[in-house]
Amino acid sequence: MFLTAPTANQISDRQISQDSIPLDLFAAIADLKKELNAVILAHYYQDPDLQDIADYIGDSLGLSQAAADCQADTIVFLGVHFMAETAKILNPNKLVLLPDLDAGCSLADSCPADRFAEFKAAHPDHLVISYINCSADIKALSDIICTSSNAVAIVNQIPKDQPIIFAPDRNLGRYVSEQTGRDLLLWDGACIVHEIFSERKLVELKISHPQADIIAHPECEANVLRHADYIGSTTGLLKYVQSSDRQEFIVVTESGVIHQMQKATPLKKFIPAPPTSNCACNECPYMRLNTLEKVYLAMKRRSPEIIMDESIRQAALKPMLKMLEMSK
Ligand code: 13P
Ligand code: SF4
Repeated sequence: MFLTAPTANQISDRQISQDSIPLDLFAAIADLKKELNAVILAHYYQDPDLQDIADYIGDSLGLSQAAADCQADTIVFLGVHFMAETAKILNPNKLVLLPDLDAGCSLADSCPADRFAEFKAAHPDHLVISYINCSADIKALSDIICTSSNAVAIVNQIPKDQPIIFAPDRNLGRYVSEQTGRDLLLWDGACIVHEIFSERKLVELKISHPQADIIAHPECEANVLRHADYIGSTTGLLKYVQSSDRQEFIVVTESGVIHQMQKATPLKKFIPAPPTSNCACNECPYMRLNTLEKVYLAMKRRSPEIIMDESIRQAALKPMLKMLEMSK
């Protein structure tokens, strides 16, 4: 698996232990926020402590919209690299900080730009719709970006006779194809976290909790999704548990999202779906690289920041704006 290589821009664990970390990190981060005129954007898969310091928590679409509307000078992005990169694409003149530059994404890594460019060149009549979980280079090769919350709606807006490449997630692509009745040409990428859930254990869990609804993210495999009572983006899943009469839910996505579910509906019960082994593999290892200490240090040092080639940024901006326009 490919991980973004550490750069001079990166904070190492050794540096963290050498720096003096204040005892009250929450207060220190609040002070730095004022000093930097910063906004903190966080994804639901972050550690609960990090979600709790955010000004805005959301799914990928919500975070992109928040980044597009942002008035602050600095964006501290508590998520993974492609998300912070997306914020930079939309805000070239702002300082965009990502506390740990190694916070990559297995799905984004499963679609290298050189191979994707060849794939695209082999199908010149196809429109390229890319899931936001991809690098800026892939966005720059795309016609429209989508997220898990708007992918079906975006594909439904494309004329029926227009052939479409859908990249990089084969699971979301297959789900969108089923929902829209469209024959999509799929890139063969996947997320290691969403492919780790065990169908057998899920069925066993459902048998022991017959009143629970199974709610799942569309990045999961088809054999898991077929058991779901509701399929949606992280925000979709959160809204579902808030509006449902059910009291118990088996949650088939990264377990970080349960923090907001529990806060919104304290009397309901949430059971994380079991992975195939006894690991904590339903926690995204990339998302969980960010810590409060690294947030503090990144804000104090104004680094690591997202830096991007301007021609790539401009090419990646077009399909991003198209998505925001098509999602109104
Ligand atoms: P959403 O929050 O858009 O549902 O995406 C989930 C995900 O895997 C982010 O990496
Ligand atoms: Fe990427 Fe999967 Fe982690 Fe989301 S959960 S950031 S798709 S590796």
